[in-house]
Amino acid sequence: MHLPTFLLTALVAPLVAGHPGHDHAKELGTRLEFLANNKNDLSHCAEKMRTRGLFAANAQRRSELAETILKKRGLEARAISDSHKSTASYTAQTELSTIFAGNSSCVLSPEQIEGPYYVSGERIRQDVTEDQDGVPLAVDIQVVDMDTCEPIPGAYLEIWHCNATGVYGGVVASGNGVGDQDKANLNNTWLRGVQKTDAHGAVQFHTIFPGHYIGRTTHIHVAVHLKAEPQANGTLLDTTAAHVGQMYFDQDLIAAVEKQAPYTANKQALTTNSQDFLLTAAGQTSDPVMEYVVLGKGVEDGLLAWLGFGVNTTLAREMSAAATIYESGGVANPNAEYYNV
Ligand SMILES: *[C@@H]1O[C@H](CO)[C@@H](O)[C@H](O)[C@H]1NC(C)=O
Ligand SMILES: *[C@@H]1O[C@H](CO)[C@@H](O)[C@H](O)[C@H]1NC(C)=O
Ligand SMILES: *[C@@H]1O[C@H](CO)[C@@H](O)[C@H](O)[C@H]1NC(C)=O
Ligand SMILES: *[C@@H]1O[C@H](CO)[C@@H](O)[C@H](O)[C@H]1NC(C)=O
Ligand SMILES: *[C@@H]1O[C@H](CO)[C@@H](O)[C@H](O)[C@H]1NC(C)=O
Repeated sequence: MHLPTFLLTALVAPLVAGHPGHDHAKELGTRLEFLANNKNDLSHCAEKMRTRGLFAANAQRRSELAETILKKRGLEARAISDSHKSTASYTAQTELSTIFAGNSSCVLSPEQIEGPYYVSGERIRQDVTEDQDGVPLAVDIQVVDMDTCEPIPGAYLEIWHCNATGVYGGVVASGNGVGDQDKANLNNTWLRGVQKTDAHGAVQFHTIFPGHYIGRTTHIHVAVHLKAEPQANGTLLDTTAAHVGQMYFDQDLIAAVEKQAPYTANKQALTTNSQDFLLTAAGQTSDPVMEYVVLGKGVEDGLLAWLGFGVNTTLAREMSAAATIYESGGVANPNAEYYNV
């Protein structure tokens, strides 16, 4: 996959100018180099995954998670949005098992880069929300071996994303939030966490829907560590990853969330999916946009989103962490890559 040079320049130039701290050109270069040398489609796995019962297992797991959340929050009604690229028309009465039964979630978001806000040493935990306010979001992510089409159990899958007003916890940097240079942010661990994949290669997290920040559309970062050994205190200090990617959302869903408080307090300029340089590159050969259902009467009640990833298990690369969180607090890495302040 190659983007024409004129498009590349058009995409990157204004962003670099508008956001000096964050080296977008380098990110895009790394990504295009990966795409040029690697297969990045999981469609060849669909038949095998279906006959192996993986799609059925996925539907059941996601359906159970939805039912659990609806029950816990005392929500009876559910508004089913038109999920990503779905042609089916769902109503509030459609059974969840029907909604989750499709195999369209089996898509690949191939290698991207970790960007300037990755923090190593985060905790293994399912709920990463802590005190962050926003639209409740549960995510179900599945990891599949691209070569064998088998799920990958026992991998450590890590997510991190910004809060409702577009700030990452754990990183103090000029591009992170508008004018927010509070050193105490180095100690924050919210909206970051790690889970071990189950027998179906799946993990589930509870978090909030991410906000947005300058130069990027709304996204969640994800990294997959194979053969990782967690620390005795339940943290992961492993920076070798077989997969580093980003998960995206439909633009109409983002718009609905951005109308809610506290997202409305975000003063950073909004970049849409079609304006985003990394999603534009990813979208050429894959579909890294999450499927979702609204759990309740509207997005303010909460969402469940899901996605499957194909991983090349022979790949192992070192991630560059902007900081590491230790028992003694967060420590910034002055030599972090993708950051050129
Ligand atoms: C996996 O990565 C290796 C090493 O880069 C590469 O040779 C191989 O083609 C990749 N496999 C797939 C299925 O992309
Ligand atoms: C769904 O599965 C069918 C065959 O089982 C396959 O032809 C189709 O490409 C799959 N769709 C996706 C998005 O993987
Ligand atoms: C996001 O994090 C920043 C830094 O901690 C904080 O100032 C801001 O209030 C947070 N946003 C919300 C909606 O809590
Ligand atoms: C960060 O946490 C450590 C350990 O609890 C503490 O010693 C340090 O004072 C904290 N730093 C800030 C800026 O709050
Ligand atoms: C967890 O344990 C490792 C290894 O002993 C240590 O370096 C790290 O500081 C600990 N992290 C936290 C958050 O306690």
